[in-house]
Amino acid sequence: AAAGGVGCMAGQIAKAHEARAIGIAGGPDKCDWLCQQAGFDAAIDYKNEDVAEALDRLCPDGIDIFFDNVGGPILDIVLQRLAMGSRVVLCGLIATEYLTERPPGPAYYSELLYKRARMEGYVIWDQVRRYPAFQAKLKAWYDQQLIKPLDDISVGIETVPDALSSLFKGGNTGIRLVRVSEDD
Ligand SMILES: NC(=O)c1ccc[n+]([C@@H]2O[C@H](COP(=O)([O-])OP(=O)(O)OC[C@H]3O[C@@H](n4cnc5c(N)ncnc54)[C@H](OP(=O)(O)O)[C@@H]3O)[C@@H](O)[C@H]2O)c1
Repeated sequence: AAAGGVGCMAGQIAKAHEARAIGIAGGPDKCDWLCQQAGFDAAIDYKNEDVAEALDRLCPDGIDIFFDNVGGPILDIVLQRLAMGSRVVLCGLIATEYLTERPPGPAYYSELLYKRARMEGYVIWDQVRRYPAFQAKLKAWYDQQLIKPLDDISVGIETVPDALSSLFKGGNTGIRLVRVSEDD
């Protein structure tokens, strides 16, 4: 979900730390947007490309940090390509979260052992106390043009149902917002 609200910020923050950022998203338009607008170094279209092959090509030395918004099969593909001492940030599970039956667990979690890797859950509410310091950091990166807001705005309270449901169909690019009044 690299072209979603969380993913496009995670990638920009990675770039601000001088990491190489590779996003995975659905469709060529979102992948172009990730490279042209969000500043990612590369993007993989998981709907039309072989993700495993693309990761082998783009990350021949393995993946140091995986910021996971989706879980499911993509997590398993990445686990097989972790670098030694790598980190997996579990943020979202959109590929499996709404299934009626519990999905099978990651088949390749053993890679965490072999690669001395760490997988840890991340929940935004645990970080509330750090907001002021983080906002100052964001502002500094913004001033240095290292990050930019990437909002996908619809206008009018009546657009809320469509704006919300589009999140589950990949309908947004960037952070989905609804402007409820022209004066805001
Ligand atoms: N841990 C936390 O504190 C925290 C906070 C906020 C959000 N989250 C989670 O982080 C994730 C992303 O949130 P967001 O606000 O960035 O959402 P978002 O902007 O709505 O992005 C969601 C994107 O997920 C992709 N997607 C949908 N189904 C998928 C599937 N089966 N496999 C792969 N990709 C799929 C779609 O993009 P494509 O067109 O590319 O498929 C969709 O646009 C969500 O799972 C959310 O619950 C966690």
